[in-house]
Amino acid sequence: MASETNRFLDREPPSQKLIVFYGSIKLSHLPIDEIIQGDCIEVLAALPTESVDLIFADPPYNLQLHQELYRPNYTRVEAVDDTWDKFKNFEAYDHFTKQWLSACRRVLKRTGTLWVIGTYHNVFRIGKILQDLQYWILNDVIWIKTNPMPNFRGVRFTNAHETLIWAQRERGASYTFNHHAMKALNDDLQMRSDWCLPICSGGERLREGKQRAHPTQKPESLLYRIPQASSNPGDVVLDPFFGTGTTGVVAKRLYRHWVGIERETRFVDLARQRIKDTPQNVFDATLFETPSPRKRRRVPFGTLVEYGFVQPGQMLYFGKTGETTARILADGAIECDGQRGLIHQVAKELRQAPCNGWEQWYYLNEQTGERLPIDHLREIFRAKYYKTKEEKREEHDGKDVHKNSLES
Ligand SMILES: C[S@@+](CC[C@H](N)C(=O)[O-])C[C@H]1O[C@@H](n2cnc3c(N)ncnc32)[C@H](O)[C@@H]1O
Repeated sequence: MASETNRFLDREPPSQKLIVFYGSIKLSHLPIDEIIQGDCIEVLAALPTESVDLIFADPPYNLQLHQELYRPNYTRVEAVDDTWDKFKNFEAYDHFTKQWLSACRRVLKRTGTLWVIGTYHNVFRIGKILQDLQYWILNDVIWIKTNPMPNFRGVRFTNAHETLIWAQRERGASYTFNHHAMKALNDDLQMRSDWCLPICSGGERLREGKQRAHPTQKPESLLYRIPQASSNPGDVVLDPFFGTGTTGVVAKRLYRHWVGIERETRFVDLARQRIKDTPQNVFDATLFETPSPRKRRRVPFGTLVEYGFVQPGQMLYFGKTGETTARILADGAIECDGQRGLIHQVAKELRQAPCNGWEQWYYLNEQTGERLPIDHLREIFRAKYYKTKEEKREEHDGKDVHKNSLES
C-alpha cells in the first residue's frame, strides 16, 4: 500500500510542457499540472468526463467600457479593455457563459464543486445560468478589497468588492468543505462569507516594464482559500481562464494538482514561468491536512458503559454547576426526571435547543471532586483504543523500514 507521502511521489514530475490545442481531438487522460493553450470551450470538450475535483473560474467580465478613464492628475487608468473581454452584447456573453459552464459541469466529478468570481457586470447573469444548468449554489462570498481603486469621476460608489459563487455540480451530492481548516485560518472562528483581502499589488503583481502584465491578476491570498476550503491534497483543480496562472501557483503550494486553460500566448508564457518559480517541498500530510473532529472514529456513549469507563446507576450532572442530574442506564441511555433517552436527546429537551450531549453532561472525578464533561472520558477512550491516522502511518512506515532492512 502506498503511504500518504508516496501519493505525491508516485508520478513523474510535471513536464511543464505546453500543450497547444487545435480542437476536435479527445484526450484519454487529464493532462495534469500542465497548461493547455486554446479556447476553453474546445479544450474542455476534449477532457475526460468527471475527471476533476474542483474548478476555479475567473471568466471575462464583459465590462463594456465606452470611454477612457483618467485620474484627477490626468494619468490614464489601466482598465480591462482587452479583446478577450469584449462581447457584442449580453446575448453573446450569455451564450458563451452557458457553453463554458456546461462544459465544466461535464468534466467535474459528481462530488465536485465550482467557484466563479465576477463583478456586478457579469455575476448575476452567471448565477442565473449556473442554476439553469442544475448547479446547486452553496454560498456566495464577497471579496472586500481593502485597497480598491477609487471611482475617479465621483459619479458612483467606489466599487470595493467582487463576488464569488461556490456551487456544487449536483444538489445533494457529498462535497469537500474543510470547515476546520477555514476556522484555523480565521483565528479559530467559523469562516464567514465576507473576506477582506487586498488586491494584487507590489512584488506579487507581474509587470512588463512599467505596465501590469495582466489587467486582472488575482491575489494569491484570495485563491489560497479556495483549494484549501474545498479540496484535499492530491485533488485536481482546473482553471479554464488561467491568465497568469494564480490558481496553478496556489495549487502547487497546497499540493493539489492543477490544469490550466488559457488562450493568449503571452499569458501562457507568464503563467508557466511563474509556476516553475514556485517552490515545492517534499509532501508531509501533517502540514497540509487539518484534522477534523467529524472524521474521527465515533464512540457511542454506550461503549463507555460497556468498557466500564462509567457504571450503570452512576450520576451525570447537567452543566458544570447545575443541579439537574441523570442516571446512567445499562444500555447506554440516561434517565432524567422520568425521561429516558440518549445523552443528546435528553440534553436537547432540557435546553429546548439542539446541543451536543458530550459537552453538556458532566461526571464527578472522584479523585479531585471536580465535575468534568463526559467528552473527557471519550478522549481517554479514543487515546487508549483508537490509533490516530498519524500513529497508524508511523506504525506502517516503521513496518516498511523493517521489511526493507530484512530484504536488503
Ligand atoms: C479574468 S482573466 C483571469 C485572470 C487570472 N485569474 C489571474 O489571476 O491571472 C481571464 C483570462 O481568460 C482568458 N480567456 C478569455 N476567454 C478565453 C477562452 N474562451 N478560452 C481560454 N481563455 C480565455 C483571457 O486571456 C484572460 O487571461
